[in-house]
Amino acid sequence: MHKGMFLLTILFFLALPSLTVAVEGPTLELGKTLFESNELGTAERSCNNCHPDGKGLDKTGQSDDATIKERINRCIRNAQGGEVLDAGSQEMEALLNYVRFLSES
Ligand code: HEC
Repeated sequence: MHKGMFLLTILFFLALPSLTVAVEGPTLELGKTLFESNELGTAERSCNNCHPDGKGLDKTGQSDDATIKERINRCIRNAQGGEVLDAGSQEMEALLNYVRFLSES
């Protein structure tokens, strides 16, 4: 194989994991990871610390998307000391999906 081609192939496979995330979109898996992460703010708390097994979220699924997103951002800002997420971001969509999933189960 041509050396340049070989390097391109290596680069492609190195970039694959990030490509996969972009293609998969706001999956429940990403939502779960974010929900259990301490990194959304400076308070070193995850959503899961306060909402284990969806505690306090059982009625949330009845609200519309915009309302739920506002509540998620309120918790990020006030409870986690974090920067609010863009309403259209993949992270916010993933958290919304995961919160809806917890609310239903
Ligand atoms: C320090 C504890 C704490 C943390 C951390 C926290 N929350 Fe909350 N959350 C609360 C409390 C208390 C309420 C209810 C009072 C209120 O709405 O502010 C609430 C309310 C909510 C609601 C609205 C529930 C409803 O339908 O009335 C949602 C949705 C929510 N949280 C999601 C999240 C998500 C997602 C995260 C992580 C990004 C998170 N919370 C982090 C304590 C927390």
